[in-house]
Amino acid sequence: MVDKKADTKNDDKKPDSSLKSVSSVSEDMITGENIFKSYRNNGTDIEILKGVNFSIKLGETIAVVGASGIGKSTFLQIIGTLDRPDMGTLMISGENVFQLKDESLASFRNSNIGFVFQFHYLLPEFSAIENTMMPALINGQKRHDASESAESILVRVGLKERLSHRVSELSGGEQQRVALARAIILRPPVLLADEPTGNLDKKNSEQVHELLMELNSELSMTMVVVTHNMDLAAYMSRSITIVDGQLIET
Ligand SMILES: Nc1ncnc2c1ncn2[C@@H]1O[C@H](COP(=O)(O)OP(=O)(O)OP(=O)(O)O)[C@@H](O)[C@H]1O
Ligand SMILES: [Mg+2]
Repeated sequence: MVDKKADTKNDDKKPDSSLKSVSSVSEDMITGENIFKSYRNNGTDIEILKGVNFSIKLGETIAVVGASGIGKSTFLQIIGTLDRPDMGTLMISGENVFQLKDESLASFRNSNIGFVFQFHYLLPEFSAIENTMMPALINGQKRHDASESAESILVRVGLKERLSHRVSELSGGEQQRVALARAIILRPPVLLADEPTGNLDKKNSEQVHELLMELNSELSMTMVVVTHNMDLAAYMSRSITIVDGQLIET
């Protein structure tokens, strides 16, 4: 917003063609403009995002760090299109996502965004394979194909021996790896993860770090990962935090 105002002052210069050529050098994957989000609680508004602007390039990996309650999950839920902002524009792969109706938005999300939640929201009575194959079934894949993809991705996250265990029969760390497998089964161009190593020991955390980096280099998967794990943050291309409702590079 501020940039645009500055541009319009330069009436004697050609409009912003030079800016456009600079920004197209590497492709924007996710851009946010003037995004506001507040929650209403006991009659008072708590402002979490106060006109946030950002641009995330194709294949970039971003760590979102900082203290509890600053709005990391709120930010992730919005860029994951799970929650609508009070105001602002979000473009993902050139799509102005919040202009889509709920049904089209859900379909866009299914094909384009993998999400690992802070509290993983797996279905406890279903097996690791069944949970993992869910997005593939929703996307219209045949059961047999979805099951095969789910199995290979679960092997890849180190759960070869746990494929048919119900989620309620898995450890916290194993559940978290199932959640990651579910998020990447469709190999979405964007992966968003909220503390994906929160319940994992050092060895399993490192395994998840390696898997994320492999997905990034093999598929140019763009990633935004909320983490308190500084080792994981150090693997990413950039780290950001939220200060007074604004995104700040750390
Ligand atoms: N639905 C809601 N209604 C009211 N307040 C909310 C709601 N969701 C979040 N908040 C408040 O907004 C603030 C930001 O929450 P958010 O979950 O984004 O924080 P966070 O940075 O992810 O924290 P943590 O590291 O603990 O997960 C918190 O103070 C929280 O209490
Ligand atoms: Mg959170």
